[in-house]
Amino acid sequence: MIQETRIVLKNAGKIDPENIDDYLKAGGYEGLRKALSMRPVEVIDELLEAGLRGRGGAGFSTGMKQRFTSESCLRCPQRYVVVNADEGEPGTFKDRVIMEQDPHLYLEGTIIAAWAIQATKGYIYLRGEYTDSIKKTKKAIEDAYERGYLGKNIMGSDFSFDVEIRLGAGSYLCGEELTMLESLEGKRGTPRIKPPFPAEKGLFSMPTLVNNVETLANAPLILSKGKAWYQGIGTKRSHGTKIFTISGQVNKPGHYELPMGVTLEDLIGLAGGMRGGRPFKAALLGGAAGTFVDSSMLKERMTYDNLKEKGATLGSGAVIIMAAEDSVEQILHNCLRFFRHESCGKCVPCRTGTTILVKRSEQLLSGHSDRKTLVQQMLRESEMMAATSLCPLGQSPILPLKSAARYFLEH
Ligand SMILES: Cc1cc2nc3c(=O)[nH]c(=O)nc-3n(C[C@H](O)[C@H](O)[C@H](O)COP(=O)(O)O)c2cc1C
Ligand code: SF4
Repeated sequence: MIQETRIVLKNAGKIDPENIDDYLKAGGYEGLRKALSMRPVEVIDELLEAGLRGRGGAGFSTGMKQRFTSESCLRCPQRYVVVNADEGEPGTFKDRVIMEQDPHLYLEGTIIAAWAIQATKGYIYLRGEYTDSIKKTKKAIEDAYERGYLGKNIMGSDFSFDVEIRLGAGSYLCGEELTMLESLEGKRGTPRIKPPFPAEKGLFSMPTLVNNVETLANAPLILSKGKAWYQGIGTKRSHGTKIFTISGQVNKPGHYELPMGVTLEDLIGLAGGMRGGRPFKAALLGGAAGTFVDSSMLKERMTYDNLKEKGATLGSGAVIIMAAEDSVEQILHNCLRFFRHESCGKCVPCRTGTTILVKRSEQLLSGHSDRKTLVQQMLRESEMMAATSLCPLGQSPILPLKSAARYFLEH
């Protein structure tokens, strides 16, 4: 049976997350030391060539994003790093594990990112309900300041960087990067129109790098062990590992770090198999803004590219497993209710569209006589939303809906 490959989680459960000496003994801050011995552009090239891609959902090249941010607005007086630690996607709890069990790792990644783009100020936008993550991160920041890994002249260099925590208040939409920047600026959490992207005009209109916790946690490892080591993990096109959070009808739900390219079947096996030996029916990959798949996808490699080619998503790495007796219609309904609840109401297509979809899904659940027409109406509604909504939330319902229709509803 496949085993976990723990690189990001190598210290989890093994060191005291509140003791910086434990982290240092495990090789902590060596990646930062290496980064500071390199020019910022070399750090960006190393991460780019290693093939690190964003673990927040979209899978965008981290090095490329750093390059855009570092090359944008050269006259701007300030550049920011913003850590997306809001973790709002249903079924996702991977960043929480990093923050609770090895907070220095992502903090070190944040400082490396700041050096790469020459930022002097960073914010960690942390989900307010994650009390333990907040506590551990606060302690890590305090200790990093005390030991000279944060603040003025980091590790004796001429580089200075400060970081602060800001708490999210439970809005899913505030996990979206531009909405997060509005919230950080003290405004209501509604989205901005893209472009401009944060790299060009981000926090307080300055170039800003927004990265997910898991993404940043990879950086110290790549810097200290080198890009060739990282390229050797995963598949030819998708390097490194992914932390999957598996829940639903498996015997051992939880978080599992595996090389990119693992199959869904292997992942279920690692999670102890189907609960009580029930037959597999479906998986929802990537959370509410993800896609349903059926058993024909059990042997597909779970990488950003392969799943996209097959019409599915890897997203944040959330995997919710359903067994034969579970209702896909019910889970879809839960997703649609979630979108209705989280819609900020700023634009009409999403505000009314999410309400219409929930109403139609209620009809579906109550055994509507013309199921086929109802599903077609829902698909048309979500297509209209995807084409006309202001931000990615309104463009999301089409993903679970279309995939549920493809595999389960249109038969
Ligand atoms: C509605 C919505 C919610 C999101 N929530 C999160 C989140 O909780 N955490 C996260 O890292 N990214 C989230 N994202 C993705 C971010 O907008 C952004 O792509 C990510 O922080 C970029 O970091 P990465 O390149 O390291 O993945 C969300 C996106 C959308 C549209
Ligand atoms: S798409 Fe939805 S969440 Fe996004 S701005 Fe419009 S109403 Fe708000």
